[in-house]
Amino acid sequence: MTDQTITSVSRESRIFKPSAEFKSQANLGSYEAYRRLYTESVNAPDKFWSKQAKEHLVWRKPFKKTLQWKAPHAKWFTGGKLNVSENCLDKHLGTARENKAAIIFEGEPGDVRTITYRQLHFHVCRLAHILENSGIKAGDRIAIYMPMIPEAMIAMLACARIGAVHTVIFGGFSAEAIKDRLNDCQAKLVITADGGWRRGKIVELKANVDKALYGAPSVQSVLVVKRTGNEVNMVEGRDTWWKEAWEGAPNKHTAKAFDSEHPLFILYTSGSTGKPKGVLHTSAGYLLGAKLSSHYIFDLKENDRYFCSADIGWITGHSYVVYGLLSNGSTVFLYEGAPNQPEPDRFWQMIDRHGITILYTAPTAIRAFMRWGDNYVTRHKLDSLRLLGSVGEPISPEAWRWYHKMIGKGRCPIVDTWWQTETGSIMIAPIPGAIPAKPGSATLPFFGIVPKIVDEKGKEVPRGTDGKMIITKPWPSMLRTLWGDDERFKKAYFGDYPGVYFTGDGAKQDKDGYFWISGRVDDVLNISGHRIGTAEVEAALATHPSVAEAAAVGRPDDLKGSALVVFVSLKTGIAADDALKEALRAHIGREIGSFAKPDAVRFAAGLPKTRSGKIMRRILKEIAAGREVKGDTSTLEDFSVITALQQED
Ligand code: WTA
Repeated sequence: MTDQTITSVSRESRIFKPSAEFKSQANLGSYEAYRRLYTESVNAPDKFWSKQAKEHLVWRKPFKKTLQWKAPHAKWFTGGKLNVSENCLDKHLGTARENKAAIIFEGEPGDVRTITYRQLHFHVCRLAHILENSGIKAGDRIAIYMPMIPEAMIAMLACARIGAVHTVIFGGFSAEAIKDRLNDCQAKLVITADGGWRRGKIVELKANVDKALYGAPSVQSVLVVKRTGNEVNMVEGRDTWWKEAWEGAPNKHTAKAFDSEHPLFILYTSGSTGKPKGVLHTSAGYLLGAKLSSHYIFDLKENDRYFCSADIGWITGHSYVVYGLLSNGSTVFLYEGAPNQPEPDRFWQMIDRHGITILYTAPTAIRAFMRWGDNYVTRHKLDSLRLLGSVGEPISPEAWRWYHKMIGKGRCPIVDTWWQTETGSIMIAPIPGAIPAKPGSATLPFFGIVPKIVDEKGKEVPRGTDGKMIITKPWPSMLRTLWGDDERFKKAYFGDYPGVYFTGDGAKQDKDGYFWISGRVDDVLNISGHRIGTAEVEAALATHPSVAEAAAVGRPDDLKGSALVVFVSLKTGIAADDALKEALRAHIGREIGSFAKPDAVRFAAGLPKTRSGKIMRRILKEIAAGREVKGDTSTLEDFSVITALQQED
C-alpha cells in the first residue's frame, strides 16, 4: 500500500448499511441481535460456547467441561468425543443434503466435476481404508502436497476420519521447503499428484516430492493422484497410484470417535525467526470456530454456491474451503488454476457458469482485477452473487469500492475478515445482515472474541490511537501450541504480554469501536497475501556460497501490498552483477518457493548495524522505499554504510 492510500483510509467516512432485503433473509438480521449475542458470549463464555457446541457439532460422547484455561494452554470441551469427518459428511447422509453437490470442481483446462455429499463420503471412506491399510494410525502425520482438486479435500477429510494429523503444504513450496516440513513433523506418508495446472503449464508436484524425500527418512509411502498425465518416477515399494490403491477398497468405513483435543492438523506458517512454525489445531474447538463463523459471516443458505479462491495449502483453504463449509452442508466451488487463464475474466466467467452466490478472495487479487481493466468484468452478468468477502491483508477503500461496485453491483455486502493461521477462524468481521461496513475496517469482533489495542506495556490506548492488537480471552479455535516447540509457542504469542495472545498486528479502534488493522508490526511480511518471514529469506540467502550477509525487508507495493527487497553483502572477491542477482533469486526459489523470490536484490558493501551488531531493518525499509532515512540513527555503528546504500541502485 502506498502512503497515499494509507491517508485515504482515514479519509473514507461512508458507512454501508445492509439493505432491508439482505437483512430480511439474513442468519442474523440486526445490530441489536449481534450486540445481544456478543455480550452473552463474552460475559458468560462457558454457557455460550457450551450451547453452541451442543447445537452445532455431532458428539459421540458429550463433553464434561467447556474450557480449561491455564494460560497459555487451552483445552476445550474436554471429556467429549467426536469425529470431524463425520461432522462434515455422515451427518448429511439420509437428509435432503445427501444428493446435494458438496464440491463443484473446475480444472484450469476447463474440466468440470460435481461430487455430491454421498459420493464424497464414499471417496473419503475408501481413502480412510487405504491409509489404514498402509499402517497409518491415529496421531500419525500425513503430508498433503496437491493441486486444488477434489482429491486434496478428500485427503484432508480421510486423515480426519482416522485421526491422522494432516499437514498441507502449499503447492508453491519448493522441494527444500517440503523436506523441512516433513522432517519437522516426522510425516509417515505423503499424498501428492503427478502435477497441477497453473497458467497453462504443469507444476510438477511429484518431482518436488521425490527430491524432498532424499532428505526425509520418516516418509514410508507416497500416494499419487494422476492429474496432469506428465511422466513421473514411481519408486517401487514406496509409491502407489491413488487409482490402483482405490480398486477393491471398501466404501464403507466406521469412523472412530476422538477426543475433543485430538490433533487435527499442523499448518506451517512464517514467524520472525528462520524456521517456519508448525501451528497445531485440534478437533472440536477448531471445527466449532470454523462452522459457526461460516454460518454467520458468510450468511450461508441451503442453495448457496460458495467460491473461495484461497489455496488449500493456507489456513483460509482449511477453514473456509473444507471444514467450515462442509460441516454446514454447503456447496463448495473449487477452482484449480490461475485467475487470468486463459483470460483475466476467468473468475467472472465461472461465477456466471456455475451460479456462484458468495465469493471470498484477497485484496491482492482485487488489485490485479482492477489493473486488468473493467472490460473483463462488464462482459459478464454476475447477477447470482449476493455476498463478497475479503481476507489476507487490509483492503484499501479504493479496492473496497471497486469490489462493491464492479463485482457486487452495489447489491452485495462485503465482509472484510481479519484472522490468522493461529486463530483458526475469523475473529473480526462484519456479520453482513447486522453490522454496517466501513470500507477499510474489518469492523467488530465475532462472538467470544475480545481484541484490545494496547501500548508497549500492555495498557489499553484511547480510541483513535494506534497500538498493538492483543486478544484477551481464549477462544475455541485458537492454536494449541507449536508442533514440538511449546517454548516457542509461549514466547511467540504469550511472551510480549504475559497471559494474553499477541497477534503481531498493529491496529486502532475508532469511536464506534470498529477495528482498523494496519498490518504486521513484527518481521513478517505480507506479500500478495502470503506470509513470509524476513528471517526465513535471510536464512535461505545465507546458504548461498557468495553471500556474506543478507537482510530482507518489505517495500510498499501497489499490487502486492508489500514487495520483497533483499540487501546482500558479498564475500570478498565476488563480482556484484546482474547474473548474480538472478542466481540469488533462483536460490530463494529453490530454498522456499517461487512466490518468495525477491522483487529486488541490492548489493551493499555493508549493512547498517547497531554497535551490538543488530541489523537496523528500519533504515533498510526506508532505503528500499526510496525515502529519506529519518529517525534516530545514533545507535548506528557506521553511518557511511547508509550513504553507500543510497547511492547504489
Ligand atoms: C493479515 C490469513 C487486515 C494480518 C487468514 C494477519 C489482515 C495476517 C486481514 C495473517 C484483514 C489477514 N485485514 N489484515 N482482513 N486478514 N490479515 O496467517 O496481518 O496467512 O496477522 O492468515 O494477515 O495471515 P495468515
